[in-house]
Amino acid sequence: MCEDWENMISKGIILAGGAGTRMSPLTKAVNKQLLPIYDKPLIFYPLSILMLSKIRDILIIVNKGQIGQYKKLLQDGKNLGIRITYLEQIKPKGLPDAFILGEKFIGKKNVAMILGDNFFYGQGLSKNLNNCTKLKSGAKVLLHKVSNPELFGVAKVNKNNKILKIAEKPKKNISNLAVTGLYFFDNNVVKYSKTLKPSKRGEIEIIDLLNIYKKKNKLSADYIGRGGAWLDTGSIEDYFKTLLFVHAIENRQGVKIACLEEIALHNKWIKKSHIQNQIKFYGNCSYSNYLKKILKISA
Ligand code: DAU
Repeated sequence: MCEDWENMISKGIILAGGAGTRMSPLTKAVNKQLLPIYDKPLIFYPLSILMLSKIRDILIIVNKGQIGQYKKLLQDGKNLGIRITYLEQIKPKGLPDAFILGEKFIGKKNVAMILGDNFFYGQGLSKNLNNCTKLKSGAKVLLHKVSNPELFGVAKVNKNNKILKIAEKPKKNISNLAVTGLYFFDNNVVKYSKTLKPSKRGEIEIIDLLNIYKKKNKLSADYIGRGGAWLDTGSIEDYFKTLLFVHAIENRQGVKIACLEEIALHNKWIKKSHIQNQIKFYGNCSYSNYLKKILKISA
């Protein structure tokens, strides 16, 4: 089937800053998103999700003074068939700050945002993502059932999948459907983000932004079903669980999760010569050996 790529969301933001206090002392000197999840840095996983969504124009927002570290790892994205722009967030002012900082990058387009510490995996995920990037107007969130909803943004939906209520880390249980850290917005997101006032914790809140869309009847939801995994690596415990998950899947199946070059080649964004460049760039390591295997298979 030929997709109408022209009309799909083509821009994506990875919000990879934040204080990282819950992971201290690990994050005292190194940004959380550069820490390893088994065999690759955490940032590879959200980046792979945008690439699986066929999004090629990517803005990575990082903490003050950290652009150099990210550039050393991902460069300008050319060898991955994407274009990466970097921006600093001086202070963690809240998730919607990404759309204020990213105003120029977004321009007149619709945009996806993924949080740098979110991990998604599962069958049918690409199809799911593909559906979300078709968004023309309004906002879309991806929901996932969890046993500890009090730790996340939560949505209450009715039988027709209409979102009735959405709240940030509610003390009283309203639903066990967490709002994952992957969002799709129309271009109004820049304008709406600018109207938000900081909450009691001093941040502008993603839930307030989503509630603007909800009030206008413009908020919809999609689901990551039981066959899919969503993990937020925000705490040491969840970070470790994600690492074990990747280790188990990769060693059992012999395939890598979030191998950026494999996705780019599959999307026909790069040639084998780009993968050879990447093998040289990474040096002699298991990730490079995997890339060599991909070259052999596709020979
Ligand atoms: O993971 C999904 C959850 O993410 C949602 O269910 C919640 O509704 C949403 O508010 C968010 O909750 P968290 O408590 O996980 O947000 P946190 O402040 O930890 O930030 C998430 C990521 O975004 C983290 O990697 C740091 C980064 N960040 C955060 C803020 C506030 C920034 O880069 N800049 C910021 O200003």
